[in-house]
Amino acid sequence: MRILSIETSCDETAVSIVEATGSFPHARYSILGNALFSQIDIHREYGGVFPSVAKREHAKTLVPMLEKALGEAGMLDADERTLSSADQLALEETLVREPGLGGALTRFLEQYREPHIDLIAVTTGPGLEPTLWVGINFARALAYAWNVPVVPVNHMEGHVLSSIFDGETIPDLAFPALSLLISGGHTELVLMKEWGSYERIGETRDDAVGEAFDKVARMLGLTYPGGPEIGKLAAEAREANVTSFVQLPRPMLDSGDFDFSFSGLKTAVRYAVAEKTLTHEERIGVARDFEDSVTTVLIRKTTKAVEKYGVHTIIIGGGVSANTFIRESFKSYFWEKFPMVTVYVPPRNLTTDNSVMIALAGHARKDTAEAPSHLASLVANGNLALGERIPY
Ligand code: KG4
Ligand code: ZN
Repeated sequence: MRILSIETSCDETAVSIVEATGSFPHARYSILGNALFSQIDIHREYGGVFPSVAKREHAKTLVPMLEKALGEAGMLDADERTLSSADQLALEETLVREPGLGGALTRFLEQYREPHIDLIAVTTGPGLEPTLWVGINFARALAYAWNVPVVPVNHMEGHVLSSIFDGETIPDLAFPALSLLISGGHTELVLMKEWGSYERIGETRDDAVGEAFDKVARMLGLTYPGGPEIGKLAAEAREANVTSFVQLPRPMLDSGDFDFSFSGLKTAVRYAVAEKTLTHEERIGVARDFEDSVTTVLIRKTTKAVEKYGVHTIIIGGGVSANTFIRESFKSYFWEKFPMVTVYVPPRNLTTDNSVMIALAGHARKDTAEAPSHLASLVANGNLALGERIPY
C-alpha cells in the first residue's frame, strides 16, 4: 500500500510517500519520498508562529512539496492534459479558502500523470486550526482528483510512532506503555494499554514545555525557536561548571497527580532577569537551572506513572525531545532505576514535525479511511486528544 501523507499542523509543510507491506504494527515500511519545508526562518522575524502567516506559507509550499516527494519516489511522470471544467470547478471550490493553492494544484494535475497512491493520510489535529485546514482541503482535492480514500490522523499518535520507528519497522512494544509528549503546543502523559487504546493521565495546566523554553529564551535574548538555544547555553554551563545565581522552582513536583505547570517557572525567570543586564555566565547558569527544573519535573511525573500503572515502555516524543539533556537524563535514570523499562526517544531528525510519522499513523488507522465522496465533513480539530475518535 502506498500512502501519501500531509502535515500542516504548525509551521512545517511536509509531504511523504511511504510504502507499507503487511498490516500495522507488523508491516515493513519504505520511505519512497520525504519532502519538508520548515517555516522557522519566516516565523523567527515575528518571534513566534502567526497562524495567518503559517497558513499562507502552507498554501504556497504544498504543491512544491508534493512534487518533490513524488519526484524522490520516482513517481512523477510528465503528461499533458487539460482538466475538464467540472473538475477544475470542484478543485477550485474545495480550495476556495486557500489562496493560490487551487491554481497551483490544477497546473500540477495537468502536468503529471496520476501516480499510484492507495491512501492519503492527513493531520486533522491537534494544532493550529487555520493551518490544519490547508492540509485537509489539499487532501480532499487530491482525493477527488485521484479517487483515493483519506484517513484523518492525530498528530500526537504520529509523534509516538516517530519515536519508536526504526526506519523500516515498528518494534513490538511491551504494554502498558507510557508516552510523554512534549512539544511547543503540548505536554502530556498518555497511558497506552495497546495500540489504539489511550488514556491521557496528565497534561499541562498552562504553558507547554516547548512554549516555556521559547518564552524563557526570549527573556534571555535568544532567537526563536528558543528551545535549541537554551539547550546550547545549558550545555555550556554544565561543561564549565557554571551554576545559576537564582534557584528556580520545580513546579508541581509532588502534586500527587500527573499534571504539569510551567508558567510559574517562566515567571520566576522573568523576575530573576528583570531590569538586569546579565553577564554571559549568569545567562548560561539560568538556562541550565531552567533545563534542570523541567527535566526533574518530567522525570518525577513519569516515574510516578511508571510505578502506578506498571509501565514497561516509555516513549518520549515531540519537538522538545530533541533536547540532549532531557534525552540523556531519561535514558540514564530509567536504565539505572528501572532496568526492565525500555525508553524510546526519537532519532533527532524525526523529533520535530514531519510527514513520515503521519503516514505511519495513517497506516495504523487505515480502517477509518473514507471514500472521496464522504470527505465533505472532514474537520480540523485544534484540541484533538489522543484516543478521541476523529470526527467526520
Ligand atoms: O513538535 P514540534 O516541532 O512542534 C509542535 O507541535 O509544537 O515542537 C516544537 C518545540 C518548540 O517549542 C521548540 O523550541 C522545541 O520544540 N524544541 C526544543 C529543542 N528543539 C526543539 N526544546 C528544547 N530543546 C531542544 N533541543
Ligand atoms: Zn508536533
